[in-house]
Amino acid sequence: MSKIKAIRGMNDILPDQTPVWQYLEATVQRVLGAYGYSEMRMPIVEQTDLFKRSIGEVTDIVEKEMYTFDDRNGESLTLRPEGTACCVRAGEEHGLLYNQNQRFWYQGPMFRYEKPQKGRYRQFHQIGVEAFGMAGPDIDAEIILISAALWRELGMSDAVVLQLNSLGSNAARAEYREALVAYLREHYDALDEDSQRRLESNPLRILDSKDEGTRAILEQAPRLQDHLDEESRHDFEQLCSMLDEAGIRYEVNPYLVRGLDYYCKTVFEWVTDKLGAQGTVCAGGRYDGLVKQLGGKPTPAVGFAMGVERLILLLETLDVVPADVRQTFDLYLAAEHKGLQHQVILMAEQLRQAVPGLRVRTHCAGLKNIAAKARQTGAPAIALMRADEDKGHQMSLWHDGETEYDLSPDAMIEKLKALFA
Ligand code: HAM
Repeated sequence: MSKIKAIRGMNDILPDQTPVWQYLEATVQRVLGAYGYSEMRMPIVEQTDLFKRSIGEVTDIVEKEMYTFDDRNGESLTLRPEGTACCVRAGEEHGLLYNQNQRFWYQGPMFRYEKPQKGRYRQFHQIGVEAFGMAGPDIDAEIILISAALWRELGMSDAVVLQLNSLGSNAARAEYREALVAYLREHYDALDEDSQRRLESNPLRILDSKDEGTRAILEQAPRLQDHLDEESRHDFEQLCSMLDEAGIRYEVNPYLVRGLDYYCKTVFEWVTDKLGAQGTVCAGGRYDGLVKQLGGKPTPAVGFAMGVERLILLLETLDVVPADVRQTFDLYLAAEHKGLQHQVILMAEQLRQAVPGLRVRTHCAGLKNIAAKARQTGAPAIALMRADEDKGHQMSLWHDGETEYDLSPDAMIEKLKALFA
């Protein structure tokens, strides 16, 4: 019988990787705590309409990437492809958005039926940040500063570049869309097939086409910046000057439009050239129309989401994971001779209780080659325990190239407190 395997594009995160995930998650939690954001936890399944009405019917995600199925009642459900719509749904449902300022964050798996490759998976993880009720460019700046603080904490500031653009108000974008479509129609035959298709359904997405022919035509195309409304232009300038003052470097990318329909005004992406094709590690922007579109009162909002797998890949590529992160225990404790194995479990218990935070792994297998096996675990400290007729339990301790013999449990506790507490 063939063995059952994981679904393509959905990865197990194995014990040798989880310490790096926990390190990233703990860093994010610390940084977001410093900015006063609160965590929200939403279900991973939602009504399909939530994503159709928010992300947009003619986006790649909704057209071809969603995991959608009918439940036993015949209701159409979808594994969430992103968290913003879920966060809005939850905020609205619990009365957290109307007339309030809110700052939320969330993390967890998202699902998109994309072609798997390095940095692109069908189940992937996002950490998302969303701020509601604040319309000015100051909150846009704060949101961007949070991401920049994270890169700093993680030691990856030099590897990521911030790209910024403003999409303008919905009205300004509609006007621009008409001008763009009129221009591109004149060059229809020279557009790549995808762009030809998008010309009717989602013409702004043509702006981030990678096709060389299309890119050449875009050079002479009407520019979004020339169609910006006064408020968007002003807010964008304010944002740029706040970022300048805060010392955040950025590039204005007039072709940055994002693949989800709900954005307006500020949009941004943090991009790295260290990961190949999937170089966007964090992306977001303002979505002032979404809360109303989903049935709430008009509420300005802005946020971003980071791709956790991509950040982990980047941490590994840059080799900036602190060395002790992978060390999941401090002391490896084993019996030196037969008949003492169960005492090891009890002694470990005593040590854990006496030394705050001490992480002890016990040896529960045979005693052959015990010293070599203990060393193989990579433990910073190893202790072997033996029973002495006169003195009771005694331990030898290896740490930092030094060995101490005949430590009583009390002496051992003092020693471990000095080393690890
Ligand atoms: P997004 O650009 O679709 O935006 O995704 C955000 C990030 O999630 C991407 O930049 C990337 O790092 C990661 N990501 C997306 N798809 C995959 C995949 N298949 N495999 C691995 N990583 C992936 C959003 O989802 C918006 N909800 C962001 C947002 C929040 N905008 C405002 N608030």
